Amino acid sequence: MKFFVDTADVAEIKDLAASGLLDGVTTNPSLIMKSGRPMLEVIKEVCAIVPGPVSAETVSTDHKKMLEEGRKLAKIAKNVAVKVPLTPDGLKTCKVLVSEGTMVNVTLCFSAAQALLAAKAGATFVSPFVGRLDDIGQDGMYLIAEIMTIFRQYPEYKTQVLVASVRHGQHVLQAAKLGAHVSTMPPSVLRGLFKHVLTDNGLKAFLDDWAKTGQSIL
Ligand code: G3P
Repeated sequence: MKFFVDTADVAEIKDLAASGLLDGVTTNPSLIMKSGRPMLEVIKEVCAIVPGPVSAETVSTDHKKMLEEGRKLAKIAKNVAVKVPLTPDGLKTCKVLVSEGTMVNVTLCFSAAQALLAAKAGATFVSPFVGRLDDIGQDGMYLIAEIMTIFRQYPEYKTQVLVASVRHGQHVLQAAKLGAHVSTMPPSVLRGLFKHVLTDNGLKAFLDDWAKTGQSIL
């Protein structure tokens, strides 16, 4: 499974990229707003840090303007994945951008039918939002299971399922069990995956005992 981080915080991205475990980045207008920085500048910087796909979202709702925005975003760097919403105009834009060789991430997917449409439009990624479905009392992970089942029937669809709106490590694990291609998560969730109290306690005990031996490896 590929790990993307869902943030526009360049310092965080730099730090996580140094772990060697980061495969890509996703951003959205809300994350750009939170960063307080100009979007085009942020995307350019992130693309230079992370070689994998960096999602940059369009903000127009009509096809013509969305395409114009998508083309401008795609010019920033080869690893930009243009994000378009799961609407008729968004999917129309997706088809054109993909035919021009641009990666496209179709976002705001909340149903299996929508995911199927994104695959038919040739999307590179489709982003089902699991956390927001959980928030309204639905089962976000059930949607991932449904999409994976459908996509398996049609190997000709190359669209990767990018599990988004991830809120905790269990979302990541469940998505991995279902064979989802990518999880994008807040930096705190990615950092949390490393943690286990028995790892911390065990390491401390080993190092305490090692100090008692008076030895050194180097
Ligand atoms: O970037 C899309 C998605 O990951 C947003 O997550 O937490 O705002 O529902 P969230």
